[in-house]
Amino acid sequence: MTLIEAENLDKTFRIYNQGEGLRGYLKSFVSRDYEEIHAVEDLDLEISEGEMIGYIGANGAGKSTTVKMLTGILEPSSGLIEVDGRNPHENRKKNAMNIGVVFGQKTQLWWDLPVKESFRLLKEIYEVSDEAYDERIEEFDEVLQLSDFWDQPVRKLSLGQKMRCELAAAFLHHPKIVYLDEPTIGLDVAVKERIRDFIRKMNEEKSITVMLTTHDIGDIEDLCDRIVVLDGGKKIYDGQLDDLVDRFSSRRLVLETDDWIEIEADGVKDIQKPNGQVEIVFDRDIISAADLMREVLEKYDVSDFQIKEPDIEAVVKKIYNEGLADRSSQEADAS
Ligand SMILES: Nc1ncnc2c1ncn2[C@@H]1O[C@H](COP(=O)(O)OP(=O)(O)O)[C@@H](O)[C@H]1O
Ligand SMILES: [Mg+2]
Repeated sequence: MTLIEAENLDKTFRIYNQGEGLRGYLKSFVSRDYEEIHAVEDLDLEISEGEMIGYIGANGAGKSTTVKMLTGILEPSSGLIEVDGRNPHENRKKNAMNIGVVFGQKTQLWWDLPVKESFRLLKEIYEVSDEAYDERIEEFDEVLQLSDFWDQPVRKLSLGQKMRCELAAAFLHHPKIVYLDEPTIGLDVAVKERIRDFIRKMNEEKSITVMLTTHDIGDIEDLCDRIVVLDGGKKIYDGQLDDLVDRFSSRRLVLETDDWIEIEADGVKDIQKPNGQVEIVFDRDIISAADLMREVLEKYDVSDFQIKEPDIEAVVKKIYNEGLADRSSQEADAS
C-alpha cells in the first residue's frame, strides 16, 4: 500500500538581495530584487508501507526540504503530497501523531528534564498505554541501552547518548513513518552500529516505514535496498543500490605490463597509467571483460591482470561531493 506520495512537488525559496541598512531593506521589497532558489523541483515520489529508503544527495540537494514538506513543517510551493491519505501541512497535528522525526542536531527532548521524564511526557502526548509503554521501553533498552543514563538530564548526555534517546523517542508511539535526517552524524562506530540495529529492528519487526537521509555509506549499505538520489532539487535516481553503482561507476581492467597499451574498442572509455600499471576503464554493457582481455592479449604482453569492480563507497562519495559526474563533465565540456 502506498503511504507517501508526492507529485510534481516544488519548493522555491525567495532570497531578497538587501542593500545596506534599513533603506536597502525596504528598497529590496519595492524593487523586487530577489533570487529564487529551487530547493526541490518537480519531484515525484512513491513510498510503500514497510519500505526503508535511503534519501541521498550532495549538500544543498534538497533532502531536508523534502523531509520538511513531508512532515508538514514546510508548505510546498506547488504540487501534491499525501502522507497516509492526508496533506501533511494542512493536517499537521494529525500527521504528527502518525510520524516520528529525528532532525540531525535538533532535539525533541526536554533539555533540563531527566531522560525518563522526557519519555513520560512523550507517552502522554502520543497517548501510549501503560502496558505498551513498559513493553517498548524495555525493548528499546535492549538495543539502545537507555538505562545507562535514564535518570540523567538530557543536557548532560553525550552526543551518542542523546541520539540513542532521539531514536527511541521517534519510535515510541510506533508511528507509521519515521523520517531520519542524518541520525548517525558525528557518532562513533559502536553507537552507529547500535542505532542501525535499532532502525532495522523497528523496520523489520514493526513494519515501520523509514526514510533515511545520511552521509554515511555504512548506513546505506546496511539498511537501504532502495535509494533515491537528489541532485540540485531533482530526482536523478530511484532504484536498487546495486544498480546505482552499476550505472554510475565503471569497471577497470588492471594490467601488469611493460607495453604502452592502446586499445580502440567500443566500450573502452579511458586508459590510465597510474604507478606502472595500465588501467582500462570500460563499460561492461558494451564489452565484456573477457572480450577486452582477448583484444589486449592479441597485441601485447601482459604478465598479470585483475578486474576492479566499482565500489559503492566511491559512487556515493561522488554523489555527495559533486553530484553526478556525468552532469558536471558535460558542464565542463560546454564551458
Ligand atoms: N529556509 C530557507 N530559505 C532559503 N533557502 C533555503 C532554506 N532552506 C533551504 N534552502 C536552500 O535550499 C536548498 C536545499 O537545501 P536543503 O533541503 O537543506 O538541502 P540538503 O538537506 O540536501 O543539504 C539549498 O540551496 C538551501 O540553501
Ligand atoms: Mg539536510
